[in-house]
Amino acid sequence: MSTHLSTALRDAHAHPATHPATRPSSAAALAVAIGVRPDLWTDLLEFREESRWTHQFDTDVLAASLDPSLHAELAEAQVWLLTWLPGQGTPLHDHGSSAGAFAVARGTLTERVVAAGRPGGAPRQSTADLEAGRVRYFGAHYVHQVVNTLHEPAVSVHVYAPRLTLMNTYRIDAHGLTRTGTERAGVDW
Ligand SMILES: [Fe+2]
Repeated sequence: MSTHLSTALRDAHAHPATHPATRPSSAAALAVAIGVRPDLWTDLLEFREESRWTHQFDTDVLAASLDPSLHAELAEAQVWLLTWLPGQGTPLHDHGSSAGAFAVARGTLTERVVAAGRPGGAPRQSTADLEAGRVRYFGAHYVHQVVNTLHEPAVSVHVYAPRLTLMNTYRIDAHGLTRTGTERAGVDW
């Protein structure tokens, strides 16, 4: 087993499913399976100075190249390829009621995870550098921020199931985790 894949599987076990109605562990398997296949995405890559670059995969095209055991998950999922130049990143956000996963395919991304604390208490936060081969998976309403804090461009594969319909953005203030806006599929991206 490759070091990247064994590291990815270790990470997946470290983040058990949190939403029984969805299958984030399956999303993780899909993200890793695509992330370790640069032949599926190298020719698609673009990097943009102004912002992160995104590409939504045609899942029918992916299905032709992926293990049949992943096809059922793929049929329900939305799969994105993202590129991140140094300094590019997201605000704090969730994925609405979608669960999902992302795998780092090239470079390193820094993920900050924020969970609401006790009522009146400060949110709990953790930050980790995720090198190529690392994966994170999450249930609905998971709040995180992902940034390329290092000096090399990064590439990642993101899987959402059910499909992503909205993302809420947040800030941390005196009230804790405060929602600052909502971006909707078909309107904002
Ligand atoms: Fe996200």
